[in-house]
Amino acid sequence: IHNVIFSDSNEASIIVAQEIAALIRKKQGAGKNCILGLATGSSPIRVYEELVRMHKEEGLSFNNVVTFNLDEYLPMEKDNRQSYWHFMHEHLFNHIDIPSENIHIPDGTLSNEYVREYCLGYEEAIKKFGGLDFQLLGIGRTGHIGFNEPGSHRNSGTRVITLDHITRVDAAPAFLGIDNVPRKAITMGISTVMNAKRVVLLGWGQNKADIIKKTVEGEISSQVPATYLQGHKNCTFVLDDGAGSELT
Ligand code: F6R
Repeated sequence: IHNVIFSDSNEASIIVAQEIAALIRKKQGAGKNCILGLATGSSPIRVYEELVRMHKEEGLSFNNVVTFNLDEYLPMEKDNRQSYWHFMHEHLFNHIDIPSENIHIPDGTLSNEYVREYCLGYEEAIKKFGGLDFQLLGIGRTGHIGFNEPGSHRNSGTRVITLDHITRVDAAPAFLGIDNVPRKAITMGISTVMNAKRVVLLGWGQNKADIIKKTVEGEISSQVPATYLQGHKNCTFVLDDGAGSELT
């Protein structure tokens, strides 16, 4: 893991958006699709804002972009304001020229009997496009990436996971109470993320400092799933002063 620490998360987000834009343009030049793995939550919001700005003001086109989102709550309706489907459309997809058939977000509406097959299909679809060129990540206080909670296996693929209590506590305000937070989610696996050619993890604020330290300096362990990233050849943590404050 390579760490880059900025004094300002805004400036850091712009640098990350520029890397993504450069990759999209490079692939366009080569007549290829650009396969992006995307995250939701507070961390990537400014990155998406900057990508939208580049589309509107600088003509950055997303016509060759194919996206796979990391996760979605289960159960969750698409039009629910808490859904990651809603988040992605509000912050990015509604404002750019990505063909709608290129957008992949795990489907939180499936019943138990179909969901396993669906997860295998999600994994297959990523492979069919040749794998993820770039994966954007945030990190949860449990050390989750996507919703790979403590206990997640290095070889895990897209699957249904039970959310950690801490993750549900952190999501409670958005759901107006922990009782309304779904207990499960569909998430890409650790191996799905590790197979991405490039990984960038965003960490903002003092409340991420402890888990960032454990992730970067701790032993690789399923108890802190993000530590698996130590084994990735092309992974950068983009942090602000707060999130990087415990690093030695
Ligand atoms: C979201 C996701 C999660 C978040 C993490 C941090 O798609 O996969 O791992 O990245 O929970 O969330 P924020 O950015 O809200 O602190």
